[in-house]
Amino acid sequence: MSVHNDIKRVTTHTLQAMKSRGEKISMLTAYDFSMARILDDAGIDVLLVGDSASNVMAGHETTLPITLDQMIYHAQSVVRAAQRCLIVVDMPFGSYQGNSKEALNSAIRIMKEAGAHAIKLEGGEEVVESVKRIISAGVPVMGHLGLTPQSIYKFGTYAVRAKQEAEATQLLRNAEILQEAGCFSIVLEKIPAALGEQVSKVLKIPTIGIGAGGGVDGQVLVMHDMLGLNKDFSPRFLRRYASLYDTVKQATESYIRDVKGRDFPNEQEQY
Ligand code: KIV
Repeated sequence: MSVHNDIKRVTTHTLQAMKSRGEKISMLTAYDFSMARILDDAGIDVLLVGDSASNVMAGHETTLPITLDQMIYHAQSVVRAAQRCLIVVDMPFGSYQGNSKEALNSAIRIMKEAGAHAIKLEGGEEVVESVKRIISAGVPVMGHLGLTPQSIYKFGTYAVRAKQEAEATQLLRNAEILQEAGCFSIVLEKIPAALGEQVSKVLKIPTIGIGAGGGVDGQVLVMHDMLGLNKDFSPRFLRRYASLYDTVKQATESYIRDVKGRDFPNEQEQY
């Protein structure tokens, strides 16, 4: 599929081909036009309009409060910006757990109103009916297993999941169920590296890890964490590639100083 400027779009098939030839997949979250444009221009393979927008954009403690309308708003901004990458949008809490008809309606709204390319939802066997129904309508679905933040009140903690054999076995089974249902990829969040590698070897579809080690088929990070916009979130799996909190704070301090000191605007900066 080709879009503006003859840029070749990344599709779900591209990701499958990348897994087949052993090329790792890069994925980041994005929620707004300006940042999505930079990440797309840099060559990111997949942008996830994550429900982590609830945390990093809206300041909520969990991902639960964000609404379908709010996710669609973020997704529209990202879709307007990105010309090359695949754009996946999270189904927010409460938009798919009720029943498969509701799940399909939510997925259709995301595809129709935002122009997304795929949706992501959390869970295994318990959501498989919804996954099948959404895929049967022609909408690609990405699964999400391991630490599933929409279930934080069930887990009680953001600690590593599936360290015990029973939960690891269940996760592997759920991964196979999601693949069987037709998911094109699965996010594995915060699980032991050995399990991430095992699941990735067993599955034909690509796995994307966040805190799931190096044996998975691709990596995802929340953009704000990767760019160092947050100072107070330092899980072991996070590598920061910039310190934008400090950069933005220092720039703002300089601006304030220049305004107060009547240095800004100078002669050249006025009409
Ligand atoms: O919402 C999100 O940012 C996510 C990633 C952590 C995978 O689901």
